Amino acid sequence: MKVRLIAAAAVLAGLAATHAPQERDVRSHEGLVVCASGPACDAGASALAAGGNAVDAAVATAFALAVTYPAAGNIGGGGFMIVRTPSGEVTAFDYREKAPLAATPTMYLDAEGAIDDRLTASGHLAAGVPGTVRGLEAAHRAFGKRPWRELVMPAIRLAEEGFTVSAALARSLNSALLTMAPFPASVAAYGKAGGAEWAAGDRLVLTDLARTLRAIADDGPDAFYRGWIADRVAEDMRENGGLITREDLAAYEAKVRTPVRGTYRGFDIVSMPPPSSGGVALIQMLNMLEPLDLQAKGLLTPAALHLQAEAMRRAFLDRARHLGDPDFATSIPVDRLLSKAYAAEAGASIRADAPSDSAVLGRDLLQAGNAREPDATTHYSIVDRDGMAVATTTTLEGSFGSHVVVKGAGFLLNNEMGDFNRRPGYTDTTGPIGTAANVIAPGKRMLSSMTPTIVARDGRVVLVTGSPGGRTIINTVLTIVLGVTEYGLTGREAVALPRMHHQWMPDRLAIEERMPAAAVSALRGMGHEIRTVARQGDAHSVWIDADGTPHGVRDERSEDSRAATPRELTSPSQRR
Ligand code: DON
Repeated sequence: MKVRLIAAAAVLAGLAATHAPQERDVRSHEGLVVCASGPACDAGASALAAGGNAVDAAVATAFALAVTYPAAGNIGGGGFMIVRTPSGEVTAFDYREKAPLAATPTMYLDAEGAIDDRLTASGHLAAGVPGTVRGLEAAHRAFGKRPWRELVMPAIRLAEEGFTVSAALARSLNSALLTMAPFPASVAAYGKAGGAEWAAGDRLVLTDLARTLRAIADDGPDAFYRGWIADRVAEDMRENGGLITREDLAAYEAKVRTPVRGTYRGFDIVSMPPPSSGGVALIQMLNMLEPLDLQAKGLLTPAALHLQAEAMRRAFLDRARHLGDPDFATSIPVDRLLSKAYAAEAGASIRADAPSDSAVLGRDLLQAGNAREPDATTHYSIVDRDGMAVATTTTLEGSFGSHVVVKGAGFLLNNEMGDFNRRPGYTDTTGPIGTAANVIAPGKRMLSSMTPTIVARDGRVVLVTGSPGGRTIINTVLTIVLGVTEYGLTGREAVALPRMHHQWMPDRLAIEERMPAAAVSALRGMGHEIRTVARQGDAHSVWIDADGTPHGVRDERSEDSRAATPRELTSPSQRR
């Protein structure tokens, strides 16, 4: 055991030497907000400072992210929030987008019956009915302590008065503007005056977005779903070949769901149920790995990584086979998939020395026979002084979603419709899945991989985590959870661990460049097809040490991520 821990320490020291030096984590007993953008973390921390709880902070952070992190923060998209109260009750808020009522199963196929990716990459037709504002309302109604209006105010100020553009945001805006060219309202909102490129230090003011946020603050979410904002969305859709109507918006409801739960070596795992695939797949993988004693095989050793890849392969096959919106596909066998007995059955075919063949395991699904996961979702983690914890992942799907800013309302719409199985009945070895549970239907939620997760032990929260990254999200969360629960790492070490991803099909492993080269070549030697990627995910987390001290663990893979506390905002000028 001692030898293994020394080996793990050497691996981590090696990683630290080749990557950015780890900064000191922010620690606080008074609450912490860890997210992708400093001013948005500050909005949440200000809610805590005003006596708000973790849900108040989550609402304030979410609205501020819609201003300062436009690639993924949103009011025109959707998300999932897991809340754990200090007494240990857990609730999941589902504000996933829905297919418009006029949507059809084959609406994204071309004349030859092939998927036309352009139709879900950008433009009005790509958008699902947004859920974020209703979702934040539902969480606030259930748990919030501070007035709604007060929580929207920091976002309004940021949009009205403007905020300083970071180098990362400048790059992201300049790149998004290339795709925004066909959408004049988008260029008007996000283009720099005179058409120049954005640079670090510029100021971004979002006047229409500020007006929309003000309406949401003053008149409540109905302004968005039934008032003038809904009119703007419906008009914009009518004029540009989109499907969302006033009726779609008026009918949108966020859902309160029961989180999925699992256990791993005495830790309690709580995560997002369908329409996310994240929680189910995460718990399935943990169940398959629990009997395999990864620690005995060592941290980041080929033997341990191979077993993780095999668990991924099998959980992602079940994801393809079974998962979708539970309000439509009533036959999703969630309880079975979550059981340890099923994991033993599914894991029985794992060989210690060689990869299985995905095509053989899932041959019943295949007819014949990479995509880059866009950087366009964001996760934030919050704990408050009383021990309430919130894990939220929110998305527009692609970076800047559909690239469509609603004319006169100033906010970006998602392109989430691409998360449906767009070619019913067709699954092949290159990645498309055509299983029935996630085929488009009017009013249905598209399957997600977002995996906001809370880990506790003996009734105390140990870890709050989640990530962007499309299907890779689930495997990013797996690595971090294993780091803390299996290997006994700190939150900082677990978030720094190299990540990898297998999603059943295409049958290959994507591995972060920071993975020790010897492990990668040993996995290749075992027969895994491997592709290296620069980075996977962006997991802003809170980790609570054995003494009960919460640490804000920003993921150093993203430049602008921060941790804020009620006393220590990331930018003191944001204090009001
Ligand atoms: O809900 C999902 O699973 C995807 N729409 C998330 C997309 C995503 O994470 C892209 N960002 N990196």
